[in-house]
Amino acid sequence: MKIKLINGPNLNFLGIREKGIYGTKSFEEVEKYVIEEGKKLGHEIISFQSNIEGELINAIQDAYLNNYDGIIINPGAYTHYSIALYDALKSVNMKCVEVHLSNVHKREEFRHKSVTAAACIGQITGFGEYGYIMAINALENSQ
Ligand code: DQA
Repeated sequence: MKIKLINGPNLNFLGIREKGIYGTKSFEEVEKYVIEEGKKLGHEIISFQSNIEGELINAIQDAYLNNYDGIIINPGAYTHYSIALYDALKSVNMKCVEVHLSNVHKREEFRHKSVTAAACIGQITGFGEYGYIMAINALENSQ
């Protein structure tokens, strides 16, 4: 499968931001890990990260226009309020899995709600970067 990996705001600061929550690996290390594990599973992972909502929407539309087979998205804080990202995911009607590194349900109340998960097959939360690998398997094993 050709899979677009989309990471949203502040995820480029992995390894710098709140290490107790997000770990010490840099974004580049996590990205490399997902691309390599994806390759081992026979998939091509193309990674994109932006801190800008509109660029994330463009990346979702680009995945559709370029015939990707699925999307793995960690929308960061946009998860909790971006109707624009929800609309973008609904528009393309592609197989999509939402991933969160931390267990959002163990954290502040405002993180318990995801507006974007309803446009995805499902959500994986709390397994660190391994969650992205779980998402690859989820895409592979869903319609
Ligand atoms: C996050 C959880 C969000 O609540 C937060 O705003 C992030 C990261 C995660 O991966 O755990 O930026 O999506």
